[in-house]
Amino acid sequence: MSEKSLEVNECLKLILERRSITFFDKTKEVDDELLIKIIELASLAPSSYNLQPWEVIIVKSKENKIKLREICFNQEKIQDASANIVVIANYKRAINNIEKVINDAKSKGYNISVDKNLIANFYSINAKMRAVRDTSLFAMNIMTIARFFGLETHAIEGFNEQLLREFLNIEDYKEIPMIIAIGYKDPTKNLLPRGIRFPFSDFGKII
Ligand SMILES: Cc1cc2nc3c(=O)[nH]c(=O)nc-3n(C[C@H](O)[C@H](O)[C@H](O)COP(=O)(O)O)c2cc1C
Repeated sequence: MSEKSLEVNECLKLILERRSITFFDKTKEVDDELLIKIIELASLAPSSYNLQPWEVIIVKSKENKIKLREICFNQEKIQDASANIVVIANYKRAINNIEKVINDAKSKGYNISVDKNLIANFYSINAKMRAVRDTSLFAMNIMTIARFFGLETHAIEGFNEQLLREFLNIEDYKEIPMIIAIGYKDPTKNLLPRGIRFPFSDFGKII
């Protein structure tokens, strides 16, 4: 087997093994450095014009996890997980990043023919959608990369949005696509088999 195909198989393995983990090991902590490493690697995700609209707030202390669990309709996994990554899409951050991103690209030899205002105008058409889309790609990366480090995750959309905004001071113009609970699996418990996935013929076509 060539080195290349081995890499591909390793990558597929991470995707095949990822599940939404309901049972986290309450006794095992994840180091802050590892969380930050996973998040920085996840930011290798593609984004429109490389503007990287994402922000995260990591909820980790016992007290804050208890509060977040209440906001997430009492979902136990929030408290059992080592940490919860609140994933935020901020289109204003993307627009603020334009200058830095253009300067960096130019310094690396990219031929940038559009100016800052043109990109800002383009991005501003449906800016929230763009920010949520790119932030969701980043979020998926977090879940896949977590597997590489032997961690498990669970994406959560079951939260009271207003209470979450109040708790973390998240402004109304920002979107919150999901929270990612992250930690180690409780080895004494087993998940049910993975839920149905539909075949290509159900949702795709080749033209
Ligand atoms: C954005 C998003 C939000 C989700 N929110 C919840 C949630 O609030 N509670 C929950 O139990 N599962 C939640 N899930 C998990 C899905 O139910 C789960 O991904 C799906 O059933 C497929 O299972 P698998 O991830 O193990 O393959 C969410 C998944 C995604 C992608």
